[in-house]
Amino acid sequence: MKILGIETSCDETGIAVVENGQRLLGHVVLSQIDIHQAFGGIVPEVAARSHLEAIIPICQQALDEAHLTWAEIDGIGVTYGAGLAGSLLVGVLTAQVLAVTKNKPLYACNHVEGHVYANFLTDSEKYSVCEALPKFPLLALIISGKHSQLVLFENHFKYQLLGQTIDDAVGEAFDKVARLLGLPYPGGPSIAQLALRGDVQAFDFPDAKLQNQYDFSFSGLKTAVLRQAQLLAGGDYSLSSLEVAKHLDLSTRANLAASFQRAAVTTLVDKTIKAYQEFKPHSVVIAGGVACNQELRRILKHQLPINIIYAPAHLCTDNGAMIACLACYQVMENLKPINPFEITIDPSLSM
Ligand code: KG4
Ligand code: ZN
Repeated sequence: MKILGIETSCDETGIAVVENGQRLLGHVVLSQIDIHQAFGGIVPEVAARSHLEAIIPICQQALDEAHLTWAEIDGIGVTYGAGLAGSLLVGVLTAQVLAVTKNKPLYACNHVEGHVYANFLTDSEKYSVCEALPKFPLLALIISGKHSQLVLFENHFKYQLLGQTIDDAVGEAFDKVARLLGLPYPGGPSIAQLALRGDVQAFDFPDAKLQNQYDFSFSGLKTAVLRQAQLLAGGDYSLSSLEVAKHLDLSTRANLAASFQRAAVTTLVDKTIKAYQEFKPHSVVIAGGVACNQELRRILKHQLPINIIYAPAHLCTDNGAMIACLACYQVMENLKPINPFEITIDPSLSM
């Protein structure tokens, strides 16, 4: 069974073909990072327009890479939420039209669930994929530019949300702190790189105390970094986050980056370890763009008694393969396809 997956929830046009939820046959991601970098972040209207220009050629390219024609495709999976409305619309409308004209069943996919399914791709001749298949019960730390969630999966599509962010997502915090340190978008890789030259103990940033021990909060941490930067820049607290970096030398900015990254990673690790101890899952998966973070992988590996599972970087950030894989599992678990005339987008879809 071969499924074509379409992902356009944010600023990546990702299309891929996956066989039986495991084998990655064709996989193309067109990132718009270069376009949005000039604005310091994603501009929704620009993102939607770029998806529109790219989606049909990328779809053909994914089929070509898989050496398949439409006749050999058994179904289509598409992200219908969460994400930017205009971006989601381009993917969903395209999938809708393809499902009707090519006469294929259509599967509506939740983007956040999709991130976890990137870790079920363990076979490919062409692309790097995961080494080991996750086992249930599975604890997933889903961390991206829009999500920070700890989820316990009892089985496919049977899960419990243990906690989530009450304000900013962790990737959003990386992006905002990067901006205030004068670093390019996306902030995660920029901070990680600058942090290599800094001292993780230079500044002691606070950890949020929350009622639900598995919830996250990153907005206070981001503000604490801004206040520290303003203090170091001469104590002028009216300096905006766009101005403050100009008043700081490279080593100070590196120390801020390293201390911020350590604080963010420590929170993620502490909560994951607590959940591991309480629920004793058979696998722990980290998923989403922030799962690329080497410091997180290193500290979690060190503290967790079992191997952590994560995908190669190209499958951690947004892509069509995770959506195709999720749709395969919908088929294998006998979930019903959606009527292509009834699918709608849901920009604020939660788990
Ligand atoms: O999953 P993703 O591609 O898109 C969303 O669903 O949001 O994640 C993008 C996020 C961005 O906030 C980016 O800064 C962050 O992932 N990111 C990282 C790293 N690489 C990407 N954060 C920390 N360290 C990294 N190495
Ligand atoms: Zn994502």
